[in-house]
Amino acid sequence: MSTPNLKIENLRVSIDDKEIIKGLNLEINGGEIHAIMGPNGTGKSTLSSALMGHPKYEVTDGNVTFDGEDLFEMEVDERAKAGLFLAMQYPSEVSGITNADFLRSAINARREEGQEISLMKFIRELDKKMELLEMDNAFAHRYLNEGFSGGEKKRNEILQLMMIEPKIAILDEIDSGLDIDALKVVAKGINEMRNPEFGCLIITHYQRLLNYITPDKVHVMMQGRIVKSGGPELAQRLEAEGYDWIKEELGIEDETVGQEA
Ligand SMILES: Nc1ncnc2c1ncn2[C@@H]1O[C@H](COP(=O)(O)OP(=O)(O)O)[C@@H](O)[C@H]1O
Ligand SMILES: [Mg+2]
Repeated sequence: MSTPNLKIENLRVSIDDKEIIKGLNLEINGGEIHAIMGPNGTGKSTLSSALMGHPKYEVTDGNVTFDGEDLFEMEVDERAKAGLFLAMQYPSEVSGITNADFLRSAINARREEGQEISLMKFIRELDKKMELLEMDNAFAHRYLNEGFSGGEKKRNEILQLMMIEPKIAILDEIDSGLDIDALKVVAKGINEMRNPEFGCLIITHYQRLLNYITPDKVHVMMQGRIVKSGGPELAQRLEAEGYDWIKEELGIEDETVGQEA
């Protein structure tokens, strides 16, 4: 089995003819956890939406390959089937489909016909993972995200991650709105996933999640591109000193993608 790989080269993305991602390079391999950090409005969520194929986001230049295949040649459901997982900053609510139904069909969508997960095994796995994530069993039978609090949605995203076992996951603001206990639980789930067959990109505004998950690489995003990369110590410096020193170092006045021509 080959190691999962997501390779982004010189990616440019526009929304309504306004360029948001301006030449972004990033490569994630199995076994690696990367973090993209950056102030608000620097294009982080646009990156994840573009990779997942949101129709509003127009890719104007660059290449993205997932396990060597052109990602943008794949239909959105093919991307998920091939093992790309995206947790959105704002997960949507789906009425009429229970969490358990959703999970089971998502797992089976990635399997060959005749190789579907058995109901027994599914339930056993679901119980085990919900226990690890300290989730009440009732969540299995509620409609997907409907009436879930912000924190419950985030926990549920991690449950999906653990059940679906994708090759590469992109987690956008998985830590936002979590209290410290929920944050630890989310980190526990992601740490549990760590293995050579799984690569992860954590997109976050804050350093605090990275107190519980040690990333292999940390990238800072400003003005729609990665302006600095380093190891876990970079996240610690951002926690202590904020983003201003990077802006000074690089001569950036406005870090958002909005203003400059
Ligand atoms: N769907 C959209 N329609 C219009 N503008 C958008 C849309 N999504 C993002 N933008 C704009 O793109 C810029 C970057 O936003 P975003 O990628 O959400 O940044 P971040 O996640 O880093 O806070 C912002 O100026 C935002 O208003
Ligand atoms: Mg965002």
